[in-house]
Amino acid sequence: MKIIIVQSYSEMSQEAADVVTSIIKANNRAVLGLATGSTPEGMYVELVKRFRNGLIDFQEVVSFNLDEYLNLPPDHRQSYHYYMKTKLFDHINIRPEKVNIPSGSAENPELECSRYDRKIIEAGGINLQILGIGSNGHIGFNEPADALSINTHLVELTPDTLQANSRFFESLEQVPKKAITMGMGSIMSAKKILLLASGTGKARAIKSMSDGIVTTAVPASLLQLHHDATVIIDSDAAALL
Ligand code: PGA
Repeated sequence: MKIIIVQSYSEMSQEAADVVTSIIKANNRAVLGLATGSTPEGMYVELVKRFRNGLIDFQEVVSFNLDEYLNLPPDHRQSYHYYMKTKLFDHINIRPEKVNIPSGSAENPELECSRYDRKIIEAGGINLQILGIGSNGHIGFNEPADALSINTHLVELTPDTLQANSRFFESLEQVPKKAITMGMGSIMSAKKILLLASGTGKARAIKSMSDGIVTTAVPASLLQLHHDATVIIDSDAAALL
């Protein structure tokens, strides 16, 4: 695992956008695995800027998002469908039929999970998977547990995650308790992985994901087994390294 420490959130976002840009320049049909949350927002702003300046073309790009809350309609302002649309997709030329996000309102969520994994395989797998990290070490919504699921699955969010995500909702009670997430196998199958983190709140998770121990108590620690995983963090997130 390669760890790059930069000075600021803005530098992290620029470097992350550089990685995405070079993947798309090398292969205009690249399959991107995308993440939501506060961390990648700056990277999306930068990618939109580069698209507007004619430096990057998303016409043939395919995307798969990591996760979505269960039972939150796509037009709900806190859904990850809404996040992706407003932060990225509305501002670039990616084709709607090439965008994939798990459907949190599917009638049969289990079926939706297997459909999602099938689509990733049919697309030829993910070339670059972008990840944030929870302060509890989760990636996607793969929460610390005795065992981790390989495939896309339904998950019960931990109190830590509900608390962390309540900042986007009016109250803790409004945070959906369940979500659909790509599993560890789906993430680890990506050809290249880029994990981003910023701020002291992530320092403990960054330390325990990179200390040479792999444990399901810190799902991100499995990335140490990936052959091409890069971590770009600011100096606050690197404080305990
Ligand atoms: P954040 O979330 O980017 O909003 O900190 C990351 C995560 O929980 O995976």
